[in-house]
Amino acid sequence: MIKKGIILSGGKGTRMSPLTKAVNKQLLPIYDKPLIYYPLSILMLAKIRDILIVVNKGQLDQYKKLLPDGKNLGIKISYVEQDKPRGLPDAFILGEKFIGKSGVSLILGDNFFYGQYLSEKLNNSIKLNKGAKVFLHRVKKPEKYGVARFKKNKITLIKEKPKKFFSDFAITGLYFFDNNVVKLSKKLKPSKRGELEITDLLNLYKKNNKLSADFIGRGGAWLDTGSISDYYKTSDFVSAIENRQGFKIACVEEIALLNKWITRKHINNSIKFYGNCEYSDYLRKLIK
Ligand code: DAU
Repeated sequence: MIKKGIILSGGKGTRMSPLTKAVNKQLLPIYDKPLIYYPLSILMLAKIRDILIVVNKGQLDQYKKLLPDGKNLGIKISYVEQDKPRGLPDAFILGEKFIGKSGVSLILGDNFFYGQYLSEKLNNSIKLNKGAKVFLHRVKKPEKYGVARFKKNKITLIKEKPKKFFSDFAITGLYFFDNNVVKLSKKLKPSKRGELEITDLLNLYKKNNKLSADFIGRGGAWLDTGSISDYYKTSDFVSAIENRQGFKIACVEEIALLNKWITRKHINNSIKFYGNCEYSDYLRKLIK
């Protein structure tokens, strides 16, 4: 059973400069809440309560103002600083102590997931004992992502941002690994772009026949907020759904309450913490 999760929330953010010159990308708003609430909500939906957030060196204070320790959400949040973007698998090297002897899930701080059966799929994924699991989703421009070809749910080829088309299924930024991930990440060498690549790590699992795949499916959405236009598309998506249906996507307090990790008292604390705002009005309605 996987009980630990890492949110990779650093990165250069150059694709969104100047917006990200002074503020980390994951603290910018996606409609009515900071981007980091979305990946955090996914780990919470997976019932993961012990969470490590990897942040850029020098940006820890910004994060702690928003998410001090997780107590109000009934979870434990700890932080580690990354002094430069060494690549996604660096999360497992920096998080070695945090991971200890357990398995771990990794979610990228700028990835957005939404859809039917997602909670069910997540709850299935944390049952992973051995190997690794990824989520695939069909995209129009696979060359922007890690890409996988598969046959009957078995992955047969993986490449990072392939120049030549071989599949239109992207590997999304949500991964589940057994404890070997720390050892294997340490074996990786930086790629041509100077980073440790998650696709190289996944290939090590694939070589040993220990990589499985699931799908977000047609009823689900996966959006990468990497570029300015994708970022605003994600924000529009959240706005459209929330304003039409009246509930919030990624209200982390609501998920904690539904998971029975917190009570009315915690929600009241959060309302005080946020102050008078539309988000607090929504929290008030939850405990009416
Ligand atoms: O979004 C899914 C894609 O994410 C996957 O399909 C690719 O296989 C994977 O390599 C990754 O590709 P990107 O080029 O989009 O990754 P990016 O450099 O944008 O980093 C993703 C997030 O992780 C972003 O929020 C910044 C953070 N990050 C990244 C690196 C390299 C860190 O915190 N530290 C790092 O060292």
